[in-house]
Amino acid sequence: MTIDTLISICWVWIAVAAMIFLMMFFITAPFGRHTSEKWGMMMNNKWGWFIMELPSFLIMSYFLAFGTNISHSYVWILFVCWLFHYAHRTFIYPLRIRATAKKMPLFIVISAITFNLVNAGLNGYYLAELAPKWDYSLKWLISDHFIIGFVLFLTGMYINLRSDTILIRLRKPGETGYKIPRGFLFELVSSPNLFGEVVEWSGFALMAWNLPAVTFVVWTFANLVPRAKNHHDWYLKNFQDYPKIRRVIFPYLF
Ligand SMILES: NC(=O)c1ccc[n+]([C@@H]2O[C@H](COP(=O)([O-])OP(=O)(O)OC[C@H]3O[C@@H](n4cnc5c(N)ncnc54)[C@H](OP(=O)(O)O)[C@@H]3O)[C@@H](O)[C@H]2O)c1
Repeated sequence: MTIDTLISICWVWIAVAAMIFLMMFFITAPFGRHTSEKWGMMMNNKWGWFIMELPSFLIMSYFLAFGTNISHSYVWILFVCWLFHYAHRTFIYPLRIRATAKKMPLFIVISAITFNLVNAGLNGYYLAELAPKWDYSLKWLISDHFIIGFVLFLTGMYINLRSDTILIRLRKPGETGYKIPRGFLFELVSSPNLFGEVVEWSGFALMAWNLPAVTFVVWTFANLVPRAKNHHDWYLKNFQDYPKIRRVIFPYLF
């Protein structure tokens, strides 16, 4: 594939994300608290998470192992960041969430596999094969956008992990219901875990400084902002004493 073809695919994929973003304000993604049997065949929640996140981990591992650019530049740092996130999401997160009888529609798993195949494919192929070597030289490593992006990436990851941990610990063993989360950024927004994920991949795009990484953060935003709105509305509907001061996802803004 030439670089021009990959860039064209990215623009088409960004246009698809924009449509999904608008659609998701009218259709609630049916997993977690919003799960629904109306979407066809269902599968185990933990296995669903594992299967849908695995392609991203495998694709990026393949490019890290066999990519042409890997040994000639510092581009491997981006692969390590990506793999660190996806190793957790694929192998650890499904083991950490509390087992409930709740299932996930197969449709969600297939949609997420498609999301991961395209996003990891575009990013991995660009970084490993198409990016000019000098783009990821020592000069890149000491550039402002790399350093700021790296700090943002780590900050976002911390917010995401800490918030997910607070949510997961709300249930004592054997409990299946929902409670109002308290503390940390939950005092400001309903979904700090999703906020952290958006910050994390924005940091990655700043570090990587290329269109495939921007494409990925656009998709992350398109998925997670409407999901956070669904979570926020759900809390307001289900808890009369839900703190009204909390925003949806971005502290003080939305
Ligand atoms: N990159 C992307 O596009 C993308 C897309 C989706 C998700 N993600 C990431 O995947 C992770 C999970 O996302 P999510 O939307 O499923 O998160 P979530 O709805 O906030 O749920 C996270 C976990 O906490 C439990 N939980 C949430 N709120 C609770 C409450 N009030 N009381 C008790 N337990 C509660 C959930 O249980 P239940 O499952 O039983 O509700 C689930 O196990 C996040 O880190 C998110 O950033 C990323």
